[in-house]
This record gives sequence, C-alpha cells and structure tokens, in this order.
Amino acid sequence: MQEFLDSLGQVSAVIGAQWGDEGKGKIVDILAGHFDVVARAAGGANAGHTIVVKGKKQVFRLLPSGCLQENATVVLGSGMVIHLATLLEEIAMLKESGIDILKRLKISDEAHILFDYHKGIDAALEEGSAKTGKQIGTTKRGIGPAYADKAYRTGIRMGRLGEDLESELEERAAHVQKAFGVSVNVAEELKHLQNAEKVFGSCITDTVIDLHEMIADGKTILIEGAQASLLDIDHGTYPYVTSSATTVAGALQGLGLPPQALDTVIGVAKAYCTRVGEGKFPTEADEKTSDRLRERGGEYGATTGRPRRCGWLHIPDLLYSAALNGFTHWNITKLDVLDQEAVIPVGVESDENGEVVFEELPGWKRKTSGITDFEELPEEAQEFLTFIEERTEIPVSFIGTGQGREEMIWRS
Ligand code: GDP
Ligand code: IMO
Ligand code: MG
Repeated sequence: MQEFLDSLGQVSAVIGAQWGDEGKGKIVDILAGHFDVVARAAGGANAGHTIVVKGKKQVFRLLPSGCLQENATVVLGSGMVIHLATLLEEIAMLKESGIDILKRLKISDEAHILFDYHKGIDAALEEGSAKTGKQIGTTKRGIGPAYADKAYRTGIRMGRLGEDLESELEERAAHVQKAFGVSVNVAEELKHLQNAEKVFGSCITDTVIDLHEMIADGKTILIEGAQASLLDIDHGTYPYVTSSATTVAGALQGLGLPPQALDTVIGVAKAYCTRVGEGKFPTEADEKTSDRLRERGGEYGATTGRPRRCGWLHIPDLLYSAALNGFTHWNITKLDVLDQEAVIPVGVESDENGEVVFEELPGWKRKTSGITDFEELPEEAQEFLTFIEERTEIPVSFIGTGQGREEMIWRS
C-alpha cells in the first residue's frame, strides 16, 4: 500500500472524466489521509462532493473533500469563485463535527468573491433562456456570472476582503439592476463580507507562493478536480458546460503550478454515466432503464437535488477525457450499482451516421457491494474492468463498491 501511494508521486490530481458527480469526493477523502495538502483549483459551490464516513454523509461544495482528514492543509486556489456565506456554512458544519478547519485553511487572495447577485443573474438568465428552450440547466449558484465578471475585469477578489467595498458594490448594484433587472441587497452583501473577514480573513494568503514553498519542502499535494472534463468551458459539450477550465490544465492554472510539478492524474469515471442539466448524452438510456439506474445509484444532484439523467459508459468519451488530462490511473466508481444488470451495454464507437455502437458485456447478477479485493469480484465484473483497461490502455487502479470510505478496491 505505501509503495503504491509513493508511486502516485508528490503531486497528484483527481479529475472527473464524464459530466461530473463521478465520485471524486470519495477518493479524495480516502487519499487525503496520505497527503500533506489537498487543494481545490477552480469552480465554486456548483460542486457537490459527497463523503460517507461511518454511515454519516457530508457534502462539500467549496472546501476540498479531504478536509475531514486532519493531517491535511486545505487550499482554495486562485481559479475558484467563492460564495462567502456557503464557505462560512461549511466551516461551521465542520466545527459542529469537532473539526477546526481554520487552523489549516489557506484561501487564495486571487480567488474571486461570488456575490448573491451573481446567483440572481444566473437565475434570471436561465429563466430568460427557458422561454426559448435554450437554458443550460445550471446549478444557479452564480458561476457563469462570477466568471464573466472575472473576464470583464470587474470582479472583486478575496484579497480585498478587508477593504471598504460599499461604494464599489453600490456601483455594481446599479449596473446589475440595469443590465439584468436583478436587485442587489448591498447591505446584505456587506454583512457577508464582514462576517467572512472576521471568520476566515486571516486564512487569505498568496497560495501560489505557499504551494511552491510546500513543494520545495517535499510536501505531497492532492488536487481535487471539480466538475468534469466534458463540462470544460473549452473542450466540453459547449454551450452546455460550466464556466471554468475543469481539466488538469485548468487545475494547474487555478493553483499556479507548472506542468512539471504534476506526477499522476487519476481519472474518475462511473461504471455507467450520468449527466445533470441540458446537453448531449449519446449513451443516455431509455426512461425505464434510466429510472432503474437512478434509483440504484441514488442519482440525484448533491447540490440541487435534481434527478440525474442516466446511461451507459462511453469509451470514446473516456478516451477523449484521457487525452485531455493524461490520466495515469482510473478510479471506476459505483460498480455495485450494476450488480443486478443482466447485460451491460458500453458505447464503443460511432457509426457513419454518428449513432453510438454498443457492445453488450455480460452482467454478474451478484452483489459486489463492499468488496475490497479484486480477486473476490465475480468473473464478469473483472472482465468488465479489464475491458475498460484494454480499450483505454490505462490501468483501473481504484474500484468503488459502495459509498463508504472503506468500500474501495485498491490495485497496485
Ligand atoms: P463528485 O461530485 O464527483 O464528488 O460525486 P457526488 O458526490 O456528486 O456523487 C457521487 C455519489 O455516488 C455520492 O452520493 C457518493 O456517495 C456515491 N458514491 C461514490 N462512489 C460510490 C461507489 O463506489 N458506489 C456507490 N454505490 N456509491 C458511490
Ligand atoms: P461536481 O464537482 C455535475 C453542470 C450543471 C449544468 C452545467 C453548468 O459535483 O462533479 P453551472 O452551475 O456550473 O453554470 O452549470 O454544469 N455542473 C455539474 N454537473 N456535477 C458538478 O460538479 C457540476 N457543476 C456544474 O448541471 O449542466
Ligand atoms: Mg457532485
């Protein structure tokens, strides 16, 4: 085990290979116990990363899932958009469980503050485009508008938390009202800023310098990707994507790390596939099958509670994600959800009309929940995983067999 952990190197990234919710949080929680630092690089509270420890479920939106492991320094990187009240809630939630995260939390002074009015704009834009059937199906967490402000260079960054921002916010409020018809409660926004400054103002720092120093000191760093490769603003299924760079390149950019710093990249994919929100999904199952997978897999959004669309694994998408990210390992999650399936379709290529061609693999019709040893898996389940390895030429090193922290097969 130690040898395997060592082989992950000093800096390792965990990146979603599909449309999100692959189970990134779970493997980050497990691995964080063996890393010195866990870092989020991009995105905001659109993420919902679920951890189940001793039957207790916790969902993290901004803090990295690794924060339950008390050894780990926790970093919120420059590429993030941070909703202050949500971060305050997460800090308070941890405090209730007896964890004082403030002692080991570092927040980038370059990360952008996501205000309530960004959420208001997000909702207004979605409502407007719903009238013409063109909504994205966002999480309505204000992500697009916050990144838009960043790109317009009108954003406000965490490093300014202690400043008097009243007149600047009044100006923003007038603009937001005029441009989007969204009212801004400046007094409320100022209150969030004050609370945030009081609670975590002292955690705001130049995380780029800090990370480089930690690397120089030989500390190990685990990067927790948020969202996923097919939601990437450049390479995903545009316009049905999020507003940040979700691949490993975006993670490095979001933390200010050079490519040479990175040793390994763990691609996380479900043994099937899901998507929330609008956009293409070539291997989406028929309604009955989708309903069955959703119920078995508990496929409801961790952030919005929306039912996730369900379908099958798609090898061309895995290959595309692997190409974007240079995956060195797979974590195939939720194998147990397929336990009752008689056959398991896998999309392997497209025909001349662009239709997906499926191969049908035999199901195992036996319980795999909680199995921690590859050899104990039914032969058909082993063959299914070997099929993924052969088609992608990437080893399946971690296999999820349940929600719990211990329900994972490690294969070195
Ligand atoms: P993330 O956003 O990638 O971290 O994933 P989410 O937390 O949004 O969604 C993944 C869901 O699957 C969560 O409810 C996890 O607890 C659950 N999960 C993760 N791995 C497994 C697994 O191997 N088996 C089962 N049954 N559930 C899992
Ligand atoms: P994690 O980190 C699944 C999707 C939304 C929508 C699109 C744009 O938990 O895997 P946004 O609010 O980002 O502007 O929405 O992206 N989306 C996610 N889907 N998991 C996520 O995060 C997601 N973050 C955004 O559903 O389709
Ligand atoms: Mg999620």
